[in-house]
Amino acid sequence: MTTIGFIGSGKIGGTLARLAVEAGHDVVLSNSRSPQSLHDLVTGLGPRARAATPDQAATDGEIVVVAIPIRAYRQVPTEPLRDKIVIDTLNYDPARQGSVPEIEAGDVPPHELLQTHLPESHVVKAFSTVFFGHLATLGRPVGAADRSCLPIAGDASAAKRRVAALIDSLGYDTYDVGALAESRRFAPGTRAQLAHLDPVGMFTAPGRPVTAADLVKLLDEAQ
Ligand SMILES: NC(=O)c1ccc[n+]([C@@H]2O[C@H](COP(=O)([O-])OP(=O)(O)OC[C@H]3O[C@@H](n4cnc5c(N)ncnc54)[C@H](OP(=O)(O)O)[C@@H]3O)[C@@H](O)[C@H]2O)c1
Repeated sequence: MTTIGFIGSGKIGGTLARLAVEAGHDVVLSNSRSPQSLHDLVTGLGPRARAATPDQAATDGEIVVVAIPIRAYRQVPTEPLRDKIVIDTLNYDPARQGSVPEIEAGDVPPHELLQTHLPESHVVKAFSTVFFGHLATLGRPVGAADRSCLPIAGDASAAKRRVAALIDSLGYDTYDVGALAESRRFAPGTRAQLAHLDPVGMFTAPGRPVTAADLVKLLDEAQ
């Protein structure tokens, strides 16, 4: 079992924390305000969950999930994340979350922004393609015909293997798309992004399972 730190404990962080606790992992949650403000969430998650500051969550997590609005990326602590595996869930949506000048200037692609901020961490892009409501419900046991597959990407193979094992424990297969730069193939605007979305009901409808074969077809469209 793994201790997972969370920088950001909202829709995606909170959903992942619940899946992790249900799978038997320990979670350390943080947000932009205070550990006290996470009291209700942590109480609801039970004894495997505790609240902390972002620095403490980064220090205590064996794997650390970053799930904040991307515009706040500079506030992610660097020192406690040195040499650690960091899961990057971030998508760039300037209209809803605010713009990031260095992305707008073309200095860095959005999917590589967190790794540039954390050059000594092993960043693995994951969970950025699935709406939190669907993430909460689409997990299945190993071998289930309707088990979904999530894309991951990163520059460190060992980190990706560790993240794949964690995601497996949460009820999902993974497909390794390659280096972090290749995560452009499942970035916003691609078919692989929000692949679970039913075009009729969209965010109000149940998520659709996406198998590895489905996912590879969608990723190939963004070659
Ligand atoms: N929602 C989805 O379905 C979904 C799916 C895939 C990827 N994503 C990506 O995941 C990220 C988070 O989205 P979300 O929907 O979960 O957002 P959200 O519900 O608004 O939650 C954001 C969380 O980040 C915290 N936060 C903000 N600034 C912070 C900082 N400087 N330090 C520590 N914590 C901070 C917030 O804490 P406070 O409440 O205290 O401010 C809150 O806990 C975004 O980049 C989004 O693109 C979202």
